Amino acid sequence: MSIKKAIFPVAGLGTRFLPVTKAQPKEMLPIVDKPAIQYVVEEAVQSGIEDFLFITGKDKRPLEDYFDHSGELEYHLEQQGKTELLELVRNIACMCQIYYVRQKKPLGLGHAVWCAKQHIGDEYFAVLLGDDIVDSDKPCLKQMIEVYEKTRRPVVAIRRVPREEVSSYGIIQGRPLGDGLWEVSDLVEKPHPDEAPSDLAVIGRYILPPEIFPVLEKLDPGRGGEIQLTDALRVLAQEEPIIGCEFQGIRYDVGTPKGLLVATIEMALSREDLSEELEQYLVQLVRKRDLL
Ligand code: UTP
Repeated sequence: MSIKKAIFPVAGLGTRFLPVTKAQPKEMLPIVDKPAIQYVVEEAVQSGIEDFLFITGKDKRPLEDYFDHSGELEYHLEQQGKTELLELVRNIACMCQIYYVRQKKPLGLGHAVWCAKQHIGDEYFAVLLGDDIVDSDKPCLKQMIEVYEKTRRPVVAIRRVPREEVSSYGIIQGRPLGDGLWEVSDLVEKPHPDEAPSDLAVIGRYILPPEIFPVLEKLDPGRGGEIQLTDALRVLAQEEPIIGCEFQGIRYDVGTPKGLLVATIEMALSREDLSEELEQYLVQLVRKRDLL
């Protein structure tokens, strides 16, 4: 059986985006004109996922509203004959059926994943974090599902990062298997650059077995006092090989203001309706600030 269920943990507090996240989920921040979470949901749809579960928390209602019909808006657009816009908003509501489970306290990503236990049952599933957006010909999750189908092992998406940045990621220790695949023997959450076992960072895409749930259940809080998914993966790696998959594509870290700005500029530059004017503006800006 292939991967049909995916969970989207969206219950974090988004403190790196304060003050805007005081009253707005960070997943709803726009990249050009689409909220970040939509890029991730679209990736899952294009990867063949059929069952979508959001792990939500307090103040995340805008996410539910966004993926639902908006009767008043649709009626208004219909009355005005704005058929293209009508189709655009209807398609978002029809894109997929989303289930919701509430994480009652933000106790960490590992705990958020654990909250999906009942819904997932006894099958492998995917986890996608809204902090990472991947622009690629073949969706990142699809690339990972293909690896899962060949190996029948848990798969984590990995990417080389500059040494000085390893302390922002979960870093793997592993042995190369060829074709961008690694056998992961251990992981360290946010290590000091001098202590990192490699420069291969885990980014927000995982294919996990149901055996992760009892591991999560027994975990003590780790770094930052949170139940860490990385700690559960460490335990799992001791029991069976986990595969690290160096995926193809450009990855944007939209979990930080700088990353969100970079993604916004680059994605706007790839849009026909925006690229020319934006490029002209950027050239003027570089000249004005004497940057070259
Ligand atoms: P982050 O570590 O980026 O935390 O979580 P955060 O709260 O979203 O953001 P900052 O660091 O305060 O700015 C990684 C992912 O795990 C989810 C987040 O929503 C994000 O998608 N998460 C984190 C939960 O669902 N629950 C939690 O308790 C913690």
